[in-house]
Amino acid sequence: MITQVLVLNGPNLGRLGIREPEVYGHATFDDLAELCRATGRQLDLHVDVRQTDDEREMIGWVHEAADARMPIVLNPAAFTHYSYALRDALAMRTAPLVEVHISNPAARESFRHTSVVAAVADGTVAGFGLVSYQLALQAVAGLVAKQSEQVAEPNERAAL
Ligand code: DQA
Repeated sequence: MITQVLVLNGPNLGRLGIREPEVYGHATFDDLAELCRATGRQLDLHVDVRQTDDEREMIGWVHEAADARMPIVLNPAAFTHYSYALRDALAMRTAPLVEVHISNPAARESFRHTSVVAAVADGTVAGFGLVSYQLALQAVAGLVAKQSEQVAEPNERAAL
């Protein structure tokens, strides 16, 4: 069965390719979107990649995912470090959530060392460039498979 996954990207990630290439690399946002869709196809995930500079729009997408029980791979970008509103929206999630970063925020300026969303995520992948997204999608596929095993188990027991 194909699982729908949202790959959500926060502020300034639409500028990949021209944004501080020494930190974020030369690949563009379109390259990232294509890589995520191709990785998804290998994992039986249908991946919808979105980007916004607007906190309100991002929170709306998180609500949409919660209502549809859709997993999220999220690069909150700068929202990571201060958006309690986004954190509260993510706390209502109904499906797996993996936080992702292209760079390794722990090895950068001190304001990047805090993630206000990490505690409500299943886990975080950071520091591997665009490969971070591929690893995050693999993690989502694993979490979805584990969830469906857990749902299947009680029925199997009932059938005995
Ligand atoms: C980022 C790291 C954040 O600190 C930064 O604000 C970003 C990108 C990353 O992917 O490495 O915009 O989330």
